[in-house]
Amino acid sequence: MSQSPLPIVRTVAELRAQVRAWRAAGQRVGFTPTMGALHEGHLSLVKLARAQADRVVVSVFVNPTQFGPNEDFDAYPRSEARDAELLAGAGCDLLYAPTVAEMYPPGFATTVTVTGVTEPLDGQARPGHFAGVATVVCKLLNQCGPDVAVFGEKDYQQLQVIRRMVRDLDLPVEIVGAPTARADDGLALSSRNAYLTAAERESAPALARALQAAGARLRAGDPVAEVEAEAVAALAAAGFGKVDYVEVRAAADLSRLGPGPIDAPARILAAAFHGKTRLIDNMAV
Ligand code: PAF
Repeated sequence: MSQSPLPIVRTVAELRAQVRAWRAAGQRVGFTPTMGALHEGHLSLVKLARAQADRVVVSVFVNPTQFGPNEDFDAYPRSEARDAELLAGAGCDLLYAPTVAEMYPPGFATTVTVTGVTEPLDGQARPGHFAGVATVVCKLLNQCGPDVAVFGEKDYQQLQVIRRMVRDLDLPVEIVGAPTARADDGLALSSRNAYLTAAERESAPALARALQAAGARLRAGDPVAEVEAEAVAALAAAGFGKVDYVEVRAAADLSRLGPGPIDAPARILAAAFHGKTRLIDNMAV
């Protein structure tokens, strides 16, 4: 245990002992997995978990297996003491912060692979990313054994991957998606926003604006291909660099839609670099 007023455990055994005690007392357990560097978006997930459960566990684990070799694993912001303070204020009861060795002990040799929904978008742009996410989330859910687990819609594809995995593997947990928390200027809150320079931060809301404008055009019946192209052009005009994707997809399984007007619930999703920072966002259509 740390000096923080919020209890912190680092082993599966300690986590299970606490959750077992709560369950024995008839309490419902909520869980929010995170990679730390917490912001208001994470805290909104914790509050949603709190509203659905008697006790809330939050994990902070920067998962090495979901980062590619040239990605920002080493640079990813880490701030456990601050995270613990914020969590205590948001109604979290227990912080689970395992070490890499606890999560992946020597000899670890199992990967959870979800097909289909992992393949487009970030599956193309970040090979291996969703295998890392599915594996660690499967482990975290098994380690904690919550009744309900809350994930943000900001990572919409990740949320669909987790829903698919939980259904396919019969994991006994309810998955709840939480709306994306945004700054006043519309930028989706993300730990990676800390990488933006002041000038990039000022123009970064162009991503949310491009998706909003795209959504309005799609609802007006404009063809998908035209709307996607216009959003890409808006990002270039705002100073964004490489655009990994701006795509309109079926909301449920992220399958590709035809190039014409949409005729089913859809989601527009984007990932693009602003300077060195890769930003993602998505909106319902
Ligand atoms: O969304 C995240 O922060 C991570 O991908 C998650 C779900 C905690 C798994 O490492």
